[in-house]
Parts: sequence; structure tokens; C-alpha cells
Amino acid sequence: MIALAKETAQDTAQTGINTAAGAALAPEWLPAPGDLNELTPLMWAQDVSRNDDGVVGVDGVSVAELKAQFGTPLFVVSEADFRARARAFKDAFDAAFADICGGVDVYYAGKSFLCTEIARWVDSEGLRLDTCSGGELAVAARAGLAGENLGLHGNNKSAAEINRALDMKLGRIVVDSLDELERVAAIAVSRGERAKVMLRLTPGVHAHTHEFIATAHEDQKFGLSMLADGASVSPAEAAVAAATASEGIELLGLHCHIGSQIFEPEGFALAAERLLTFLAQMQHSYAITLPELDLGGGYGIAYTAVDTPRPPAEIAAAMAAVVRSTCAELGITAPRISIEPGRAIVGSTTFTLYETGTLKTVNVEVDGAADASDGGSPVTAPRRYVSVDGGMSDNARPVLYDADYSAVLASRTSAAAPALSRVVGKHCESGDIVVRDVYLPNDVAAGDLLAVPGTGAYCWALASNYNYVPRPPVVAVRNGAARLIVRGETEDDLLARDLGA
Ligand SMILES: Cc1ncc(COP(=O)(O)O)c(C=O)c1O
Repeated sequence: MIALAKETAQDTAQTGINTAAGAALAPEWLPAPGDLNELTPLMWAQDVSRNDDGVVGVDGVSVAELKAQFGTPLFVVSEADFRARARAFKDAFDAAFADICGGVDVYYAGKSFLCTEIARWVDSEGLRLDTCSGGELAVAARAGLAGENLGLHGNNKSAAEINRALDMKLGRIVVDSLDELERVAAIAVSRGERAKVMLRLTPGVHAHTHEFIATAHEDQKFGLSMLADGASVSPAEAAVAAATASEGIELLGLHCHIGSQIFEPEGFALAAERLLTFLAQMQHSYAITLPELDLGGGYGIAYTAVDTPRPPAEIAAAMAAVVRSTCAELGITAPRISIEPGRAIVGSTTFTLYETGTLKTVNVEVDGAADASDGGSPVTAPRRYVSVDGGMSDNARPVLYDADYSAVLASRTSAAAPALSRVVGKHCESGDIVVRDVYLPNDVAAGDLLAVPGTGAYCWALASNYNYVPRPPVVAVRNGAARLIVRGETEDDLLARDLGA
């Protein structure tokens, strides 16, 4: 069966023409279909494979078993893969920075996906946890994590959140503005304490996938500008001065985060250079030591076969080289470096399992194509719509960010010809798209299982109850056994806050 699908790929390779149904509608980046049964390794957890019957499974637990036990839609996370990716970041950065600052503190960005189990995995692999709300702190507390291993972010933290951070004796509060610095200082003073604070700066570096731009201004809500903009000092310097003078603040250092889903290390390197230069100036001007520098997260992952993430060791080596040389040029002792990866740890550990339902094929006019033999009438090509039992409520990223994903037929292999397909959800919204463009076998039928890889980050975390659809459960697979780590919502959950009689 698999061989037939390969023949299609060979035909395409030999003729150079993508003859798959609907190919004329495919975006330029989408590769011509190859073996539709293949699981492209970069997009999946290391222990995901097809069994002898062609059924996809994780560590030997097949999607058929998962569906029977837990239903669909379902988030399926490989615990071994999560732990391996967390360790890979810690080990790679520790090794690259060993001679510079004795290693790196890796804060897993909990906003990407957090529950108590995940928090415990993070902790037991020697990572720390970055949170950005009181709710995320509550998860960390329930997981039993020590406050000193936690950070708190956010551009508008409430007094309750600041107090909670101080109650939990957090290792760091990352302060985003002068207003917030005042707020944190006042609360700490009123408690007779000193809050451990990092200042989030905007280094004028914007990075997005393969490109970054260096700008003077950062037109966004986060962080303190490093530009004076006509004033005597920049907001960043004003914050350093105020923090240094405040009895409620222990200023640990500086922080930046330049974007997400970034593949090339140059943007991180430029941000590191700019922050180290500023750090050296501040140390000199205010006769202080700033012992820590956080370079944020944002490392990219493979959502589709054309994404090419760098291994952590490569990113770490590039960043270490810049930190080493910049500190040498500035003549300063390197601060302790920390980073905050989220997506690059959890993203590829997880896939979403859906059951297919309604199918339909529409003929769509191909942009700019005309049929000369038929008086220049428009050329059409078929697009197959494959509906699944979830959608934008469990993965908002395609709607929010035009994010691309991929999908495979998971409950069996198929030798059927490829058809350009659009995987859509069940919500009352025409933009409810799960995978905008993917080649699926044209015999996909109602009742098949589809798996969408790379859904570990910012999917469950961004899930909603749109249309009163319950949020799906999360299952962890380890050592050939699957267990629920977050149960799915029930109708009782959905109605629990509705006070109508
Ligand atoms: C301050 C901060 N740190 C870390 C992250 C994690 O980014 P990623 O999941 O892309 O690594 C984010 C994401 O938005 C962020 O805002």
C-alpha cells in the first residue's frame, strides 16, 4: 500500500509536475505530495510511529486504543519526548555557557502549555518555570514547585498577583514598565520585603521565522524602551535608576524576548549584544552589579515539512559566542544567562487526534489561470474539505495567526491518490480551519482518525468553549501506557457558572 503512494511521489519527481487533485490551488510552500503515510520525523515526538498494521501510535499505544479509551478530540503528549527536549535545552545551553557563566537557567515558558504534571516534569528535569499570571502561579504551587525556581511575567500584573509572587517568594518578577516598578516597590515596602526584579527591555529587534529586523523603536505593548527619545534618559535607564534607589527592589538584571517561531540565531545574538552593552553602561553609571540576563524564548519548531528548526546545541553555540565576545569587548564579567523556551520544548511532543466526519469537495477557480482551448474560461481545481470533531476551540492558531499545520491519516495507511485537502472544525465559523492546505489520501472517509502534529504549544493553552464545545482532555503516554493528565470538560463543567435557574 505504502509503495503505491511512493510511486505517486516518483511520478511527480520524474515529471516535475504535481498532478495531485487540487494541486493548482496549493500554496507555493507546500511540497508536492510524497508518501502520504510517512511521519516526517521533525514534526513528531520521537516515539511516534506506525505499527505493523499501519496505525499511528506513541510508544506502542495506538491511536485506535487512545480513541477507544479517551475519545476524540484528544491531545496526546509523549512524556519521554517532553523530558528529552527539556533536557536537550538544559544540557546544550549548560555546555555552551559553562566557561562563560557556569551554565544557563532554563525557564520553561508555561504559557505554551501548563498543567501540574507538566510543571513536575519541568522541575524534575532541572528546569525552572516561567509564569505570566496568578493562575499559572496557582498551577506551580499545586505542583509543589519551589518559589525560587519560578518567574512571573506580564505587562499589567495585578496587586493580587504581585502579592502572590511575594507570598511564594518568587525567584524573579519580570517588571515591564515604570508604572509596574512603582507598584511592585510599593507593595514590597508595605510588606517590609524586597522583591527580586528583572527589567524587561525592548532591544529593537523583531524576529519572525527566518527573518529579523533591527529597528530603533519597538511599537508594541511590552517592555521598557532603551531609547531616550528626547528625554534625559531612556525609560530603561530610568527604571534601573529607580530600582537601584528603591528599598523595595533587589534588581537582579535585564530581560528581553524578541519574538516567536524563530529559526535563525542572528536576532537573538543582536539582542544579546544590545542588552549586554546597556548592562555594562548601567553597571558603570550606577556603580551596581547586574548579575543576570534573560534572553527570552522563541525558538522555532517544525509545523510542516518545510520548517527547519535548529538543534538546541547550534542555537546555544551561536548565542554563547556572542555573549563571550561582547563581554570580552566590554570588559565585564558575564552575567548569569537564562532563557525561556516554551514552544521548542512542548510543541512537537504532542499531536491532536480527531475523528473525521463530513466530507465535501468543491471546485475552486485557480487564481490567474484561464483555459485558452475554452475561450479563456476560468480553470478550476478541486479542494476537499475534511471536517473533524474539534476545531478552532482546541487550536486557535490558524485563525489567530494564519498558522500552518500538517495532518496525516492516523488510523490506517492508504494507497489512494493525494487530494489537496482543507481540514476544518465543527464550529459555526467559516474561518474555523485546522489545517489550511495538506495532501491527504482521497479515500479519507467519515470515521477515520486524523492526527495533527505540533499542537503541544499554544493550542490547549488557548482553547476556548466557543459554541459550548467542551475543551478536550490531555493524555500523556509513557512506557507503553496512557494516562489522563487533564480530563476533558463535561456539559456540567460548561454549565457550572451559569446561574440561571
Ligand atoms: C516573555 C516571553 N518569554 C518566553 C516566551 C516563550 O516563547 P516560545 O514559546 O516561542 O519559546 C514568550 C512567548 O510569548 C514570552 O512572551
